[in-house]
Amino acid sequence: MSPAPLVIAVDGPAAAGKGTLARRLAAELGLPYLDTGLLYRATGRRVLDAQADPADPAAAEAAARALTPADFARTDLRGPEADAAASKVAAIPAVRAALLDFQRGFGATHGAVLDGRDIGTVVFPQAQVKLFITASAEERARRRHAELLGRGTATELALVASEMAARDARDSARDVAPLAAAADAVTIDTTALDAEAAFQAALRIVKSSQSK
Ligand code: DC
Repeated sequence: MSPAPLVIAVDGPAAAGKGTLARRLAAELGLPYLDTGLLYRATGRRVLDAQADPADPAAAEAAARALTPADFARTDLRGPEADAAASKVAAIPAVRAALLDFQRGFGATHGAVLDGRDIGTVVFPQAQVKLFITASAEERARRRHAELLGRGTATELALVASEMAARDARDSARDVAPLAAAADAVTIDTTALDAEAAFQAALRIVKSSQSK
């Protein structure tokens, strides 16, 4: 029997550096990469387009089931409105169920690096490598603020910090698939690490798990 394809789960809160890290790991290891947050962002956007409430389960499930590749190419999936809508639809069990098969199918044949909130706990509990990427709330707010300024969105650090705290609370407190480190995940705290150091730390963890 051939070994199971390599699946690397990268979970953690917003702006901890998991997207950059996961993308680099995928490129280094020649694996497909999926930013699962985009699924929730695109779902939230569709609900907003329909002038419905992202917290409405029926509207949000219908949006999740109607997603097409064009939804992921939209240029309005980032920013405070998209952040809040994504986090609201992500708390709805029927939305998560609708998106589960796609995520599992993505990694099933060739392996993959997936980043999100519940990859190691729910989507791929059997992933060979599970990383939990975190950083202090202050540092994450600082990074997101700098990212928004870099994209030309003028905003206050205090506002970014309070919106991020609300989103963290919603992502962590929801009943279904809350943000949590899997029991067998390795945590990397990137508060004092730059992107290169975080990547090297992650690569060491992947390599050591492969040599076992
Ligand atoms: O990673 P991100 O910031 O793009 O995620 C957007 C929202 O989607 C975030 O509030 C949490 C949610 N999400 C989730 O619940 N589960 C995932 N696997 C990925 C994202």
